[in-house]
Amino acid sequence: MNTTIPTITLANGVEMPQIGYGVYQISPIETELCVTEALRAGYRMIDTAQVYKNEEGVGAGVAKSGLKREEVFLVSKIWISNYGDVRTTEALDESLRRLNTDYVDLMLLHQPFCDRYGAWRALEKAYKAGKCRAIGVSNFFADHIVDLAVNNEIAPMVNQMETHVFQQRKTLRPFLDELNCRLMAWGPLAEGKNGFFTNPVLAEIGKAHGKSIAQIALRFLLEKGIIVIPKTTHADRMRENLDVLGFSLAADEIAAIETLDADKSLFFDHHAGAVAKQFVTEWRGLAD
Ligand SMILES: NC(=O)c1ccc[n+]([C@@H]2O[C@H](COP(=O)([O-])OP(=O)(O)OC[C@H]3O[C@@H](n4cnc5c(N)ncnc54)[C@H](OP(=O)(O)O)[C@@H]3O)[C@@H](O)[C@H]2O)c1
Repeated sequence: MNTTIPTITLANGVEMPQIGYGVYQISPIETELCVTEALRAGYRMIDTAQVYKNEEGVGAGVAKSGLKREEVFLVSKIWISNYGDVRTTEALDESLRRLNTDYVDLMLLHQPFCDRYGAWRALEKAYKAGKCRAIGVSNFFADHIVDLAVNNEIAPMVNQMETHVFQQRKTLRPFLDELNCRLMAWGPLAEGKNGFFTNPVLAEIGKAHGKSIAQIALRFLLEKGIIVIPKTTHADRMRENLDVLGFSLAADEIAAIETLDADKSLFFDHHAGAVAKQFVTEWRGLAD
């Protein structure tokens, strides 16, 4: 298996692995083992968040792997209850303690709700202080990210969004390109929703290449210049999801996958009032 993972150059010149391992919905106890296993499989980027409550497991897994800190690209996210000039700085330091490190490679604001401007100013300071090698956002739509970028000194270098074959982010991408901001896909396997793992278009293309549906979908995103972080707790699937480098898709195969795009979330609509209300009331307290 070819495991030389390609990198994406961020706006500040930092090289970020284009494939990483996501640990959402992995229990704090399981995380250490999964991260060790993923690093053994060849992953060199781990994506966690304060709200996943498993940053300690990530730090422990990296320590156990025997790899040097600088060999692993660590990504985490500040939860909305930790937004604000002062609170974000404290929360970032707490993440560093849990991750057992004195810097993260990329820190993101997890959601576009609550005091995101105060939080962003705190991330800018942390970036200048060397606590983050790069800073960015997650779930920020064109309106959120343009506004944040124009009204601050540093523009987000990455935007992590729900992105998969059914939601290809064709309308957001020009805005991100203009800001020199890279797209990072969460849910790159659509979490299996919408019949993902039995999709006939992906299955047919997979047959031609001797690859699985997951591999074809990940390959498609990679060829679009998107950073991917598939999650699995199974070691064989970790290897499978990384084995996407030694082949390429033909133009007609890419065109066929492009037709799967419904330009709609399979999860929730961030612009719906009821969703916003849920975030700032019910879900706000999730990381506390
Ligand atoms: N920023 C955000 O708001 C946000 C939101 C969601 C996720 N994320 C990040 O994005 C990462 C990935 O997204 P995700 O976890 O939501 O979903 P995903 O990676 O699209 O899908 C994960 C699901 O697919 C299964 N799976 C993985 N590889 C497979 C394979 N080769 N064959 C069959 N099944 C497979 C997994 O099951 P098993 O584990 O049983 O294999 C799991 O049920 C997360 O872990 C997290 O780091 C960020």
